[in-house]
Amino acid sequence: MALDISPCVTDDDYEEWRRVRIAVVPYERTQSLAELREGDKPARLMLLARVDGEVVGHGLAQPSDTSGGGSVIPRVLEGHRRRGVGTALLERLVAHVADLGLPTLRAGADDDAALAFAHRFGFKEVNREVEQTCRLSGPVEPPPAPDGVEVVTAQERPGLWEAAYERFGLEALADFAVDTPLDVSPERWARDWLVDPMFLALHDGEVVGCAGLGRDADEPTRAENGLTAVRRDWRGRGLAIHLKLVTLAWAAEHGIAEVYTWTQDGNAAMRTLNTRLGYETTRVGIQLARPLDR
Ligand SMILES: CC(C)(COP(=O)(O)OP(=O)(O)OC[C@H]1O[C@@H](n2cnc3c(N)ncnc32)[C@H](O)[C@@H]1OP(=O)(O)O)[C@@H](O)C(=O)NCCC(=O)NCCS
Repeated sequence: MALDISPCVTDDDYEEWRRVRIAVVPYERTQSLAELREGDKPARLMLLARVDGEVVGHGLAQPSDTSGGGSVIPRVLEGHRRRGVGTALLERLVAHVADLGLPTLRAGADDDAALAFAHRFGFKEVNREVEQTCRLSGPVEPPPAPDGVEVVTAQERPGLWEAAYERFGLEALADFAVDTPLDVSPERWARDWLVDPMFLALHDGEVVGCAGLGRDADEPTRAENGLTAVRRDWRGRGLAIHLKLVTLAWAAEHGIAEVYTWTQDGNAAMRTLNTRLGYETTRVGIQLARPLDR
C-alpha cells in the first residue's frame, strides 16, 4: 500500500479533513471551512493520510489550551484501521509538537479502540469529561435575571468579550477542574472561546457571567454549549441557571432539538446544574497525556 501523509493546503484538502472528522466523530460539530481557515497558523498542523490517492485518515497537532501541552489527534476511517495509518499519523504529529518545543503530549479517547491505541503509545489518563445532552421538545421559559443584571449578546456588543478576558475570563479558566492549569492567550480567548450566540450577563457594564451556543451548519438541529461561567463574586444567585435557560430558549426558538455539552468529571457544580435542567449523560471522554520524550 502506498501511504502518503501531507499537510492540508487547498480548500479541497480542508473539506476532505472535515469529511474525516464528520465520519469519525459524528456526534460533535465540526468546524466550518471558514473557521478552520481563520485558525490557520504555523503552530497548527493539519494532515491528510491517503492510501493510493484515497483519503483514509487525518491528523491535527497544535498547542493545547493546557500549559506546556501539545495536542495530537490522529483519526482513521473505519475500514482502514489496524494497518499502521494511525501510527504513521501520530509520528508526524509528535514530531510537530517536538518542533514547537512543548514538553507534554495531550490526546483524547472516546472509545476503546482509541484508548488501546493511546495506551500502546504510552499515554496515561489524566482527566475525564462527561458529555451531557438536553433534548428540547417545546418552548423554554427562562426565569427573570437576578437583580442588577442585564443580559446582552457578545455579537450585539463587539469588543465586550475581548475586554472581559482579564477580569472575567482568566478567573473562569482558572476554575476548570483539570490536572494542569489552562493557558489561554487573549487571542485564543477571542477566537476559540467565543460562540455565536454568546449571552453575557452585565453588571455595572462588566461581564459577570456567560453562556452560549456553538451552532452546527452540518446538523442545524443540534448545537453545543459554549463556555458557561459566572464570576466568583456572583455565584450562588441563580445566574448560571438563568443564562443557560436563556440559551436553551434561544435554541428552542431556532429549531434546535438537541444541545450537548462536555464538562470535566470533577466539575460537580456544572454537572449537577445540567442534570437539574434536564440534561442526560450521553458519553464519557478520557483525556490522556505523556511526556514528549519517553
Ligand atoms: C485510534 C486510531 C487513530 C488508530 O488508528 P489505526 O490506523 O487503526 O492504528 P494502527 O493500525 O496504527 O494501530 C497501532 C497499534 O495501536 C493499537 N490499537 C489500535 N487500535 C486498536 C484496537 N481497536 N484494539 C486494540 N488495540 C488497538 C494496537 O497495538 C495497534 O497495533 P497492532 O495493530 O499491530 O496490534 C483509530 O482507531 C481512530 O481513528 N479512532 C477514532 C479517533 C480517535 O479517537 N483518535 C484519537 C486517538 S489518541
